Amino acid sequence: MVADFTNKVVLVTGASSGIGEAIALRFAKLGAKLAIVGRNAENLANVAKQCEAEKGLKPLEIVADLATDAGVEKTAKETIQHFGRLDVLVNNVGMGARVTIQTTDMETYDRIFNTNLRGVYNLTRLLVQDLIKSKGNIVNISSIAGTTVHVGALPYAMSKVALDHFSRLIALELAPKGVRVNTVSPGATVSKFHVRLANYTEEQYQNWLKELSPHIPLGRVCVGDDIAKMVTHLASEDSALVTGTNVQVDGGVQFVNLSAALQKQMKS
Ligand SMILES: NC(=O)c1ccc[n+]([C@@H]2O[C@H](COP(=O)([O-])OP(=O)(O)OC[C@H]3O[C@@H](n4cnc5c(N)ncnc54)[C@H](OP(=O)(O)O)[C@@H]3O)[C@@H](O)[C@H]2O)c1
Repeated sequence: MVADFTNKVVLVTGASSGIGEAIALRFAKLGAKLAIVGRNAENLANVAKQCEAEKGLKPLEIVADLATDAGVEKTAKETIQHFGRLDVLVNNVGMGARVTIQTTDMETYDRIFNTNLRGVYNLTRLLVQDLIKSKGNIVNISSIAGTTVHVGALPYAMSKVALDHFSRLIALELAPKGVRVNTVSPGATVSKFHVRLANYTEEQYQNWLKELSPHIPLGRVCVGDDIAKMVTHLASEDSALVTGTNVQVDGGVQFVNLSAALQKQMKS
């Protein structure tokens, strides 16, 4: 059975690029009414246009900074004002930094935790009653950084561990209300994420991806749609009895150590 989201309202955060863009597009293909959030209005409009081209449904575009309470409140308010309901919340927004305990500062820590955790916590809190009403579900986008141990992304990995446990805790709390909560943890995925982290040129980024691929048991890095397919599967009726899970979509990379070369690169 192909998942069907006709008449379902889906909110995807961090939908103006990368994994969130792919998630929004896949929900659009499956008939969802979408609210999409990002900071870059131009990129967001471009994603909205692609989504609209799928089934003719125009997404609600919300330009907001989800690291701020005001941005989170705006997102929750505009979604419910526009659609009057919410069926699926995809907390995809996230950012990282290449820092260790020896190189970090508190501004970086706060920025990462405000974006990856505080904003997610607050948005979920503000929308939980709407999800209970619709007996909807939540999919949080974490990372294999939350379950593997590598040097070089300290506050990012810590924020994802906390997100993983947040998901499990609210999955148990909300199960009696008919609301499911699941997590998808991507491995290395083609997006702007690592480009932003390392300030890569396109050529440097392509080299980085090339260097990484042989270390992945299934032989390639993920693309956004690999993650999006798991998200729509978990959000659909096909997963009606699935809650509290954390599905790693990573080509098996959680089983291997990153090569010494990559570890070195992460530390620098
Ligand atoms: N790519 C990977 O290898 C990888 C691996 C594991 C997990 N992940 C996770 O996947 C998720 C998506 O990342 P990605 O790879 O798609 O990265 P990306 O291409 O950098 O996309 C990040 C998205 O989040 C938005 N965003 C960032 N900070 C924001 C803020 N303060 N307020 C509102 N929107 C904000 C960005 O919007 P603007 O550009 O409009 O600001 C963009 O739409 C993240 O949670 C990340 O931790 C990625």
